[in-house]
Amino acid sequence: MTRIWFNEVVTRDGFQSEGRFIPTEAKVSLVDALAHCGYAKIEVTSFTSPHAIPMLRDAQEVMARIRRVPGVEYTVLVPNMRGAERALDSSADELNLVMSISETHNLANLRMSRDRSFVALTDVIRAVAGRVPINVSLSTAFGCPMEGEVPQEEVLRWAGRFAALGVRGITICDTTGMAHPGQVNRMVEALQRRFSGFQLTLHFHDTRGMGLANVLAAVQGGIRRFDGSLGGLGGCPYAPGASGNISSEDAIHMLGAMGYDTGLDLDKLLPIARTLPQLVGHEVPGQLGKAGPIGRLHPVPAAVADLRKGLAA
Ligand code: COA
Ligand code: ZN
Repeated sequence: MTRIWFNEVVTRDGFQSEGRFIPTEAKVSLVDALAHCGYAKIEVTSFTSPHAIPMLRDAQEVMARIRRVPGVEYTVLVPNMRGAERALDSSADELNLVMSISETHNLANLRMSRDRSFVALTDVIRAVAGRVPINVSLSTAFGCPMEGEVPQEEVLRWAGRFAALGVRGITICDTTGMAHPGQVNRMVEALQRRFSGFQLTLHFHDTRGMGLANVLAAVQGGIRRFDGSLGGLGGCPYAPGASGNISSEDAIHMLGAMGYDTGLDLDKLLPIARTLPQLVGHEVPGQLGKAGPIGRLHPVPAAVADLRKGLAA
C-alpha cells in the first residue's frame, strides 16, 4: 500500500483569516484531539506579527499548552528572525519558513521584496542550522491573484535557492486555488526531477473546485505529502479572493477509498470536523462531515423494502 503523509494546517492556515477570535483553549483542544488521529505533522500556529495576523497572537501560549504526542511533528509558520527565535523558544519540531514566488504577493503578505525575504530567511536558516529541520513554503506558486501567471521556472529557481541552503523540505503552495491538474502534472514532474532528495509537499486551496483533482494529479505524479485543513477552512488574508484549503477529511477519504494508506483514522477525525461550524460560527466547505464516508449506508425505505420482497417472491 502506498503511504501518503498529511500535515494538518487548520489551526494555522485554517484559522488565520477567520473574523472571530478563536479562544486559546479551543485551539489547544483542537490540536490535542487532532494529534490522536494519525497525522504525520500538525502546523499548530504561526509566529508572525500580531498586527499582521491577530488570530494567532496567542502562538506562544498554544505551543506551551498542547500535549505533545510522540510521532507527531509540531511545526509552525515563521516569516522572519523574530519569528524563528519565538518558534525555537516554543520547542517547535520544525520551522516552516514562508515567502511568495510572486513579488506582489510577497510585498502584500510580508511587506518586503522577495530578495529581501530571501536574505532574511537565509539568515534564519544559518542561525537555526542543526537545531531543528527547516521547511520552506513557497506561496502563489501556481498563479498570483494580482500578477496572474507565475512561470514554473521561477518556482524551480526559488526552490533551488533554498535547496542549496540545505533545507529538509519544500512546500509548493497554490495560495488562491489557481492550479489545474494539467499544470500540477507538469510541476510535480519537474520538481521530482530536480528535488528528489527533499521532502516535497503540495498545498492546495479549493477556491475554484479543483483542489481534489489537483491532489489526485499530484499523487499520480508521485507526490506523497500534502497539507490539508480540516473542514476546508483557510485562506491568506493578504491574497484577494483567497478561500479554503482542500478539506483534509475529504482528501483523506478519497485517497483511502482508492487504496492509499494515509495513516489517518476517519472515525476519530470526522467527529472533530463536525465541531468546526460551531467553533468558527459558520458552515464549513468540507463535504465528508455532512455526507459521511461512502461506507455509511442509509436505511432502505419501507416501501422500497416491500418492492424488493415482491421481486424476490
Ligand atoms: N513576531 C512577533 N512580532 C513581530 C514579528 C514576529 N515574527 N515580526 C515583526 N513583529 C512586530 C514588531 O515587533 C513590530 O511591533 P511593534 O509595531 O509593536 O513595535 C511590528 O511587528 C512591525 O515590525 P516590522 O519588522 O516593521 O515588520 P512589518 O510590519 O514590516 O511586518 C512581517 C513584516 C513579516 C513580520 C509581517 O508582515 C507578518 O508577520 N506577516 C505574516 C503574514 C502571514 O502570516 N500571512 C499568512 C501566511 S502565508
Ligand atoms: Zn494556504
